[in-house]
Amino acid sequence: CGIVGYIGQNDTKEVLLNGLEKLEYRGYDSAGIALLNDNGMNLFKVKGRIAALRKNVDDMIHATMGIGHTRWATHGVPSEENAHPHQSASGRFTLVHNGVIENYQDLKKEYLSDVTFVSETDTEVIVHLIEKLYDKYEDTAEAFRQAMSLLKGSYAIALIDSEDEDHLYVAKNKSPLLIGLGDGFNVVASDAMATLKVTDQYLEIHDQEIVVVNRSFVEVQKLDGTAVDRKSYTAQIDASDIEKGTYPHFMLKEIDEQPFAMRKIINEYQNENNELKLDADVQMAMKAADRIYIIACGTSYHAGLVGKELIEKLASVPVEVHVASEFSYNIPLLSEKPLFVFISQSGETADSRAVLVKIKEMGYPALTITNVPGSTLSREADYTLNLYAGPEIAVASTKAYTAQIAVLAILAVDTAQAKGLKLDFDPMQELAIVANAMETLTDQKEAMEELVTNYLQAARNAFFIGRSADYHVCMEGALKLKEISYIQAEGFAGGELKHGTIALIEEGTPIIALATQPDVNYAIRGNVQEVIARGANAMIISMKSLEQDTDAFVLPQVHDLLTPLVSVVPLQLLAYYAALHRGCDIDKPRNLAKSVTVE
Ligand code: G6P
Repeated sequence: CGIVGYIGQNDTKEVLLNGLEKLEYRGYDSAGIALLNDNGMNLFKVKGRIAALRKNVDDMIHATMGIGHTRWATHGVPSEENAHPHQSASGRFTLVHNGVIENYQDLKKEYLSDVTFVSETDTEVIVHLIEKLYDKYEDTAEAFRQAMSLLKGSYAIALIDSEDEDHLYVAKNKSPLLIGLGDGFNVVASDAMATLKVTDQYLEIHDQEIVVVNRSFVEVQKLDGTAVDRKSYTAQIDASDIEKGTYPHFMLKEIDEQPFAMRKIINEYQNENNELKLDADVQMAMKAADRIYIIACGTSYHAGLVGKELIEKLASVPVEVHVASEFSYNIPLLSEKPLFVFISQSGETADSRAVLVKIKEMGYPALTITNVPGSTLSREADYTLNLYAGPEIAVASTKAYTAQIAVLAILAVDTAQAKGLKLDFDPMQELAIVANAMETLTDQKEAMEELVTNYLQAARNAFFIGRSADYHVCMEGALKLKEISYIQAEGFAGGELKHGTIALIEEGTPIIALATQPDVNYAIRGNVQEVIARGANAMIISMKSLEQDTDAFVLPQVHDLLTPLVSVVPLQLLAYYAALHRGCDIDKPRNLAKSVTVE
C-alpha cells in the first residue's frame, strides 16, 4: 500500500493525487484522500484505481493539508468502505495506514467494545483507539503517542485531527515512511518517488518513532517522547526516470533498458584501470563466510538461484537459496560462519525484512543487494550492493532481475579473487558482450510477437522447461507469463517432467524449452521430443553455438555462465506480447503489488 500526506499552502489535492499515481505500484485495488479546509474534513474514496479517484474528487476543492492512500487489500475485500482514509466515530480523527496490526482483535475487545465499526480493516481500530485516548488525555499528540505504544505489528500512519489545521501526525514501525522537506510545506510518503515533483530533500523515520509535521518544522520523537535529531538527505532519483516517455508500458521500457543497466553496472563496479572494484568490507565478509544464505522473494528469489550457481562455480563457497516467507519458520541448520545475502529490488519486502531482523538478533552479518539505496533492507544490513538499474515501475520485474544476476556475478568473481582463486573469466568483458546481445534481442520484438501468435495465442496453460541454469530462467519465464497474462504456467526441470507433470501435456499444449547449456543440450532436446510425441506444441530457444535448424529462436552467444541474462529477455517479451494480445493491464496486473510491505 502507499501513503502520501501534505501540509503547506498549495493545492493539496493535486500533490496527493500525483503522489498516489506514483505509488500505485504498491497496490491499486482501492484508494482515497482526505482534505481538511474551512468546511471541515472532505473524504473521497473509491474501489479501483487512482484514475477513478481523480474523477471522484471535486475539482474545485481547495485545502492546505491532506492525506491519501492506495491499497493492496490484507484485512477486508477491496471496497469503498475498506478503502482508506478511515475516520473515528465522531469524525474528528482521520488516518491512513500501511501494514498489519497483529493485536487489533485484542485492542478492539479491551478498548473499543462500545464502538460500531464501518469497515473490516485492522486500520479502523487505530483511529477509534486514538479518539478514545484523546477523550482521556485531551491532547492529540499524547493520544497518538499512547495509541502507537499499544500497537503490535507493522504500521506507517499519517493522522489528521480536523480541529487542528497545523499538524500532521506520523508514525512508523516496520513499514516504510519518509518525510519530504519543502519551503513552507512538508510532505509524507511511503516512497520518495511519490513526492519527487515537489522536493528532493528527505528525512528518514526509524521504527517506533513519531513525527509531528507542521508547515515549517518537523519534530521527530521516540515512542517514549525523547526528541531525535536527524539530518536530511538528497534523494538520488531523477523525476524523469519515473516517466514512461513514448513507451506504451513501463514494462517494455524496462525490458529495453537492460543493456544500459548492464553497462551502468560495469561502470559502477570497476576502477579507472577497468579492474573490478567492490567495497573492501563486502569482500572481507564474503571471504570470511563458510556458507552464503541467499534470502529473497518472487523474481529476486529466481535471481538468487542463478546467483548460487555463480558463487559456487566461481568462488567455491557453498550457497543456499531460501524463499524469505518460509525461512523464519523453518530455519535450516546454519553453518558456523554464515553470511546472509538479501536480494530485493525494492529493499522493502516485508517477508525479507522479517528474516533480516531475525538473523540480526541472532548476531549474523547481512549484505543487501537492492535497486533502492537507502531502502529499509539496505539501511538495516551491514553492507549494500546497489543494482543501478534505475527505478523499476512495472509490477513484473525485468531489468532488476538481470541487474541482480550481473551484480551477483561480480560479487562471485570478487570473492574468488579475494580467495586467490585463478579464474578464466573476466566479468566486465563478458557483461559487455551480454549488453550487446541484449540489444540485439530487444531489437527483435516482432519475432517474439510472432512466436506468441504461434504458441501462446489461445493457450490455457504453458510449460517452460530447461536444465541446470536454464531451469532457473524457466521458473522466471513462467512467473512473468503468469503475472501479466494470467496464463497458467510452470517452469520445470526438463528431466523431471516425465515423473508426473507430463500427464498435463495434451494436443497443442505450448512448451517453451531453453537450450543454452552445452552439457545438457542433448538431454533437453530429448525432453522436447518426449512432449512432442504426446502432442505438445513445442519451441526451442537455443544458444548460437548449439543452434539447430528447427529451433524457433536463436540467442546471440554469451559466456555459458551468463546465459540467464540473455535467455530471459525473449521470455520477458513473450509474456509481454501474450498479455498485450489478451488485453491485460500489463504494468498493473490484477491482485499484485510491486512492493509488498506486509508479511
Ligand atoms: C512482489 C512483486 C514481485 C517481486 C517480489 C519481491 O511480489 O510483485 O515482482 O519479485 O515482490 O520484491 P523485491 O522488491 O523484494 O525484489
